[in-house]
Amino acid sequence: MNTAIRKVSSPGKSDHTAFLFTSGIKPDKNFFQKSELDYIQSEIKKKNRFITINHYDRLLFLQDVDKGTSESYKHAEQLRRAGDQLTGALNRAGISEITIVSDAPANEVMAFAEGMVLGNYQFLKYKSSPDKNALNEISIASSGVTAAMTAELTTLCEAVYAARDLVNEPVASLNAEGLAKAFVKLGKSAGFKVTVFDKKKITSMKMGGLLAVNKGSIDPPTFTVMEWKPAGAVNKKPVVLVGKGVVYDTGGLSLKPTPGSMDYMKSDMAGAAAVGCTLYAIAKQKLPIHVVALVPATDNRPDGNAYTPGDVITMYSGMKIEVLNTDAEGRMLLADALHYAKQYKPELVMEFSTLTGAAANAIGHYGIVCMGDCDADVKRAMNESANNVYERLVEFPYWEEYDELLRSDIADMKNIGGPIGGAITAGRFLSKFTDYPYMHFDIAGPSFGKSNDSYRGKNGTGVGVRFLFEFLKKKAARKK
Ligand code: BES
Ligand code: ZN
Ligand code: ZN
Repeated sequence: MNTAIRKVSSPGKSDHTAFLFTSGIKPDKNFFQKSELDYIQSEIKKKNRFITINHYDRLLFLQDVDKGTSESYKHAEQLRRAGDQLTGALNRAGISEITIVSDAPANEVMAFAEGMVLGNYQFLKYKSSPDKNALNEISIASSGVTAAMTAELTTLCEAVYAARDLVNEPVASLNAEGLAKAFVKLGKSAGFKVTVFDKKKITSMKMGGLLAVNKGSIDPPTFTVMEWKPAGAVNKKPVVLVGKGVVYDTGGLSLKPTPGSMDYMKSDMAGAAAVGCTLYAIAKQKLPIHVVALVPATDNRPDGNAYTPGDVITMYSGMKIEVLNTDAEGRMLLADALHYAKQYKPELVMEFSTLTGAAANAIGHYGIVCMGDCDADVKRAMNESANNVYERLVEFPYWEEYDELLRSDIADMKNIGGPIGGAITAGRFLSKFTDYPYMHFDIAGPSFGKSNDSYRGKNGTGVGVRFLFEFLKKKAARKK
């Protein structure tokens, strides 16, 4: 990661310094000169909430993110966005180190720092003369902030950066085997177990959904099993995460039209990136919770032997699926992973996938479409965690009446539902491969930004990592 975060007791005399306020700018009368105090007051009158004072040898910033009457989680989001704004100003000024000074509560200061670090992300691998951001070190001088908090934020931002890197990597340099290798590397560095099934093993297991999608590819599929099982875990049965690992989705023989709908399909493994990088974060932080993550991976392409509309595929579960659109490939391989998850008798399965254009069309990039049958209190906890990190959830119906749209004339089920409720029929399709409390998260909308969106940036956003980390952290703490 390009940005180090550390706690300091007080700012150095020559540090570039940003003063963060959350209930109006109140400059320290002993710190600023009289003329500066007058200038600050005149700017406050003009409702300027981001004041810069140029000391030639160093810059001083005074930033106000007034809580007012807003709910805490909305205020936290304003703080992240303000942090991103400061990062932009620092990079424009060519400043590499900054000290944040604040009397605000620690969680508010940390939200601000989070926005700063996430807003400083860059993907420069393919730039011949990279325009690297200047900012590389953030010191925090705030009494409530601890070294443990800065260490946790470092881990979490590393995980989000890693997820963004994976999503931004094109398929030419990240095929299914490459994705599996990336997980092995993450496992080594954070200390969780990673097992990769190769094509031979996947074939012997008869994972028909994954193999069908892979038929048009010249690269073999992979199925990665990641596990974090610490001694003293709070849960007896694991939480299982599942992520869609379609490293590129052309649509297969039901080819997507270009330009437009195919251009960003290197991001069709954003679910896989989210679950793998979450494991990195929870293992690195040694959270006392048993979590497994499963990633079925392949690209989806048309080729001489590609699976076809009209094919009937016997899935890993034994169910027979009539394929009527090869572009509905995510559900084919996720179904096999969901069936595989049954052996863990999981307490809960959370599956993340860039599954449908319908979900993205319904709510855009503003949130995550979800549906499932886990208990109301679990859904409440999910909502709370999602709000805390501002990766908000919108629950869609998970009604069995939609199943009639998936009826096939010749097989157990078809892989598309038709023109209505596309996100819902996709979720209902997946439900047929579960026998445990299950929640499906469709991240087709928020996983990839086509224009800059504050600290979420442009391109891969790493959506899902912060939500999952927050949810699992709270869960680990609740049961202790
Ligand atoms: N990967 C796509 C979904 C997607 C669309 C992700 C836009 C990100 C942005 C998925 O595999 C797909 O093609 N879904 C089809 C399903 C349809 C054929 C039933 C879709 O949504 O059009
Ligand atoms: Zn598709
Ligand atoms: Zn897809």
